Amino acid sequence: MVTPREIPWADLRAGARAASERAYAPYSAVRVGACGLTEDGHVVTGSNVENASYGLTLCAECSLVSDLVRSGGGRLVAVSVVAGDGEPLAPCGRCRQLLYEHGGPDLWLDGGEGAPPRALAALLPDAFGPEDLADRSRR
Ligand code: THU
Repeated sequence: MVTPREIPWADLRAGARAASERAYAPYSAVRVGACGLTEDGHVVTGSNVENASYGLTLCAECSLVSDLVRSGGGRLVAVSVVAGDGEPLAPCGRCRQLLYEHGGPDLWLDGGEGAPPRALAALLPDAFGPEDLADRSRR
């Protein structure tokens, strides 16, 4: 398991800030960017993409997961998500689940300058994940 000290947080936060500049957020004006690192060293990014039908908005983390899969996949080990003020943002509930699928409970999330990184397990305890489908299905 990767320790938070091994994560290049400043680089990830810079990537998230750059991605937030690419957000499409004409309705909320909350421009969110996300940047993640995979186990094998790939960097993926995402920005929020809003829609006139508000509920169809795609969060930055959703966009990051698309980038991850499109660029070859892999396991996420760390993610930084920032809002338009450049400071880390705690992912919304839906995005915690999206990130769980590709990083699991040990995925580290940026806490910002003054706060320690947090494992996804702390933000999404008792998560439902891919392993539950195998364990709980009956055909
Ligand atoms: N947003 C994200 O991109 N990620 C989150 O985890 C929280 C919210 C976006 C969605 C919407 O475009 C804007 O922030 C305000 O909710």
